[in-house]
Amino acid sequence: MSKKITFDYWKHLYSNRTEYMFSSEIRDLLSLSARPDIISFSGGLPEVKALSFQRLERYIKRILKTNGDISLQYGESEGYYPLKTKLIEVMKIEGLDTVEEDIITTTGGQQALDLLAKIFINPGDIIITESPAYTGALNSFRSYEAKIIGIPQDQNGIDTSILEKKLKELGNKKARIKFIYLVPNFSNPSGVTLSLQRRKKVLELAKNYNIMILEDNPYGMLRYEDKPIPTIKELDSKSGGHNVIYISTLSKLFAPGFRIGWIVAPHPILENIILGIQSSILCVSTFSQRIAYEYFSDPSWRDNIDEFIKIYAKRKDTMTRALKENFPEGTSWSTPKGGFFIWLKLPHYLNTKEILADAVRNNVAYVPGSAFYADGKGTNEARLAFCTENTERIEKGIKILADIIKEKIKLYKSFK
Ligand SMILES: Cc1ncc(COP(=O)(O)O)c(C=O)c1O
Repeated sequence: MSKKITFDYWKHLYSNRTEYMFSSEIRDLLSLSARPDIISFSGGLPEVKALSFQRLERYIKRILKTNGDISLQYGESEGYYPLKTKLIEVMKIEGLDTVEEDIITTTGGQQALDLLAKIFINPGDIIITESPAYTGALNSFRSYEAKIIGIPQDQNGIDTSILEKKLKELGNKKARIKFIYLVPNFSNPSGVTLSLQRRKKVLELAKNYNIMILEDNPYGMLRYEDKPIPTIKELDSKSGGHNVIYISTLSKLFAPGFRIGWIVAPHPILENIILGIQSSILCVSTFSQRIAYEYFSDPSWRDNIDEFIKIYAKRKDTMTRALKENFPEGTSWSTPKGGFFIWLKLPHYLNTKEILADAVRNNVAYVPGSAFYADGKGTNEARLAFCTENTERIEKGIKILADIIKEKIKLYKSFK
């Protein structure tokens, strides 16, 4: 969490809300990772170069030629209907059955988070998250003045026995809990996947306590090992429930530059979301949605996913191997089966924010763990994105990081 300290003449005019708006450390770091000399394990940047730019050019030309006027016009606030038919196909592959009327498109997954925060959160309301959690979600919830309660994770995702105890305690205090936010598949930042048993348990708890689950699933289709696990939304729908809001994005399946995400939720919630869209952006980019529609109308989009999977799986294996070969005793890391991220833990006496300065001086960047905790924990942890760099640079960057960490451990031990 960081706030830029500059003299601001207009400070007395700002709303109280700005006190709770923080710059994402990831975005700050992205400016660094743009430097070509930096080996970046910081932002989760998809390999957009693997897309066929020629094909995109063809789609864009076709749209402008046949529907130029409509595609450059304002569109429906609920989203471009034909694109929704494609989103349904995407979700079906993940086992989720839904209809166009249950979907609203958003400007990326991030706007879905912001809109949901906007319609659910009053100052002081409680949002429960896995801990560590996606920093973009924490920032959205905080900006609406939510009180965030983080529940620890292990290798099977959020610890449901701690969650159950916490819900009971909060229930006894009649706290205003709004929803539980989870990234069940290859979580950002930890790379961990929530087990089926725990998905069922979280759902049972949400039903018992009459709260929602916000299931955020940008990475589910980017699985490199094992079989998919049903989404919580699917489990909920099959048992006739209405406790899950499902959000996803085309940022990792297609390209983040188009800024297309979506929300699947019960209708009364969608009606409020539409009002939220109307007061913030009127409608999602008509042009982007039409390009995405063309892209997902060509069955070869599945080949592109296979291509993405091949690239990322190789990068993940390279990073895992390099960590094993170079990192010293006392360090550990998660072993994701998909997604973009590995979670690193260093000995308790090391601070990843402090080490970052040395790392950047040596041309390597990552995100310090504390960015993903609402309560300032995670000072000896870090998120390493394996999706961005090629295998050669991953090996080089991990060796550099390992040498810095070994040096820090040696220094610490010399003082003991
Ligand atoms: C878990 C999670 N949710 C939401 C988002 C935001 O997605 P988008 O880039 O589509 O706004 C991200 C982006 O990295 C993410 O990892």
